Amino acid sequence: MRIQIFINRAMACIFLIAGIFWLNVGNFIPYFSIIFFLISQQTIQQIQSRIDIIEIVGSFVKLKKRGSNYLGLCPFHNEKTPSFTVSPTKEIYKCFGCGKSGNTIGFLMDLEKYSYVEALRWLANKYNVEIEETAQTEEQKQIQQSADSLYIINHFAQQFFSNALFQSEEGKQIALSYLKERGFREDIIQKFQLGYNPSARNEFAQAATHAQYNSELLQKSGLVVLRDGQLNDNYRGRIIFPIHNQSGKVLGFGARIIKNNDKAPKYINTPENEIYIKSKVLYGSYFARMAIDKADECLLVEGYTDVVSLHQSGIENVVASGGTSLTPDQLRLIKKYTTNLTIIYDGDSAGVKAALRGLDLAIEEGLHVKLVLIPGNEDPDSYVHKIGAEAFRNFIAENKKDFILFQLEAALTEAGNDSTKKAALVNQVAETISKINKTEEFTKRQDYIKQVSQILKIEEAGMNALVNKLIRDKVLKEENRNAFKPIQTETETTGEDLPFFNTDELNEQALVRSLIEFGNKPWNESKTVAEFLFSEIEENELDNMMDNKALVRVLETYKKWYQEGLKPTSKNFLYHEDRELNILVINLMDYSTEISHNWKERYEGHIPTREELFKEEVLSTLNYLKLRKIKKLIAENQTELEKCTDAQDQMMCLELHKHLKQMEIDLTREVGTVIFKI
Ligand code: UTP
Ligand code: MN
Repeated sequence: MRIQIFINRAMACIFLIAGIFWLNVGNFIPYFSIIFFLISQQTIQQIQSRIDIIEIVGSFVKLKKRGSNYLGLCPFHNEKTPSFTVSPTKEIYKCFGCGKSGNTIGFLMDLEKYSYVEALRWLANKYNVEIEETAQTEEQKQIQQSADSLYIINHFAQQFFSNALFQSEEGKQIALSYLKERGFREDIIQKFQLGYNPSARNEFAQAATHAQYNSELLQKSGLVVLRDGQLNDNYRGRIIFPIHNQSGKVLGFGARIIKNNDKAPKYINTPENEIYIKSKVLYGSYFARMAIDKADECLLVEGYTDVVSLHQSGIENVVASGGTSLTPDQLRLIKKYTTNLTIIYDGDSAGVKAALRGLDLAIEEGLHVKLVLIPGNEDPDSYVHKIGAEAFRNFIAENKKDFILFQLEAALTEAGNDSTKKAALVNQVAETISKINKTEEFTKRQDYIKQVSQILKIEEAGMNALVNKLIRDKVLKEENRNAFKPIQTETETTGEDLPFFNTDELNEQALVRSLIEFGNKPWNESKTVAEFLFSEIEENELDNMMDNKALVRVLETYKKWYQEGLKPTSKNFLYHEDRELNILVINLMDYSTEISHNWKERYEGHIPTREELFKEEVLSTLNYLKLRKIKKLIAENQTELEKCTDAQDQMMCLELHKHLKQMEIDLTREVGTVIFKI
């Protein structure tokens, strides 16, 4: 009877864990790491101790109590019946509809698109916790100080330039009139905080020096240059486009010449410094973020003026890349708001080529990329002025081309009748399509295979097989690295299917879960569970024992904390800034309490809880993993034995075999007793 219960319980657990994972795959969204992480650990702990997840989540979502949990309509996807669950005891939320899950901080990050630090600051503010900054290294301190100073200088400069544009005679006559001639309205000029840097040699530099700004930092900001021992304005006689970060602070500037001139560059941009990192910035993202969210689409144009003009026409979901190809960080920025990216470039611009580069990455990230080319010599700015807002919108809607198909058609035209080029193209496009490899994108992928085969005039089945082969190759390569990613099996044409969840994986998870849940409990008089596990794992070498590298990372993090004197619990992981790590741990957590009620109906009498059985649980998973390792060694040794030609080598192999076999027998017996002991 007891064994029966154990097995049933184990099955229920496996089923549940599998379910939880199933809902959660694809949730490992990489987040920007924060360069300056300065909030002290004490402050974080103070914030953590005050967090009431029901209060926080409840201020965004209407929650109703259901048993020990709260239930509401998921804010992350559209639903009519609530499947969004918040557990006050575990301090996590989880949507059983869309699979989103996390802690309070993650909730704010997902819903409000805050960074980790921003979410902490928001909470600190709410709970009146004073933020204490950690002691930094001298270098960190300096970086932080110059970053702060650069923001202050940029703010000062932006106001100076705006004043110069609107108040000075020169600004009004040269710059404001130019902008108005181009059709920019005053309200839009104000909104984007456009400005003007006077044409005198050092008007800005003097004002800044007068205001006591440090010369070195001024140079770093790119606003001034040192020439012959004197600070001169760098953007003399130019229209200024401030570039804002996500919270509206000025990171840097683009400075446009007023009358095009062959000798001078059209734009001068802020050089890279502590706050202006070009690869992370998209011009206009501060003004566009709400509109992108709402439209569930991000329009990408090349230039500053394109962004401003489209805004003026009421098209606000638009950002600019500055004509270079999109970087992974920029893609991530877009993906915070939407998965639909529409690129609007002028047809013959060099920018098109630049934009197309790197887009495989966008597809891999799950973005749906469309392309619209503006006809003639126009760019979005001039075109919207020419045809008006309404016609522009229609033009975009009617001329959106799928990026993959567009690229293929262009390459096909270029290849002409060259069969070698055409063959290369087949592989290339298969490679691109194989990047669409998320389970939920299955239909989209098949759709592409069909369309691409038609364009290339090849058999659909052949294309299908090629794409599947590429996916399979990649999956196999990645399998060891990341066993949590789903493996495509729907369209397999060769080989045996790989299981989604196997016992090995589940046991590895169980081991880590035991550590997190029971690590601080005493194992015997002299050791805690954590100490016991670490000694066992050390003896068996972590790398040999665990295949899943993500889980190894959890173990190592635990160990590090433990050695630092912390008594880690799941909460430490829940509030870890590494999102991947905390989602991983949430998924590992025990949900059995939620189903215990069902068991009670099925079984009479006392059902042992995991708390009561933790020693058995630890030993049985540990032994399972040890056994697995020994089996692996036996198999390896057998292969070795088959290859042996030398008699002495053979003897040694046989000796080893005997030894390993004995260990296997002992362990199997032990695994057995553990189970039977219950
Ligand atoms: P464009 O030449 O298309 O400029 O360059 P634009 O923004 O449309 O400006 P107008 O309409 O002619 O006034 C597109 C983008 O490429 C970057 C800028 O970000 C610009 O907005 N660029 C261009 C530079 O950084 N430097 C340059 O010298 C030229
Ligand atoms: Mn332009």
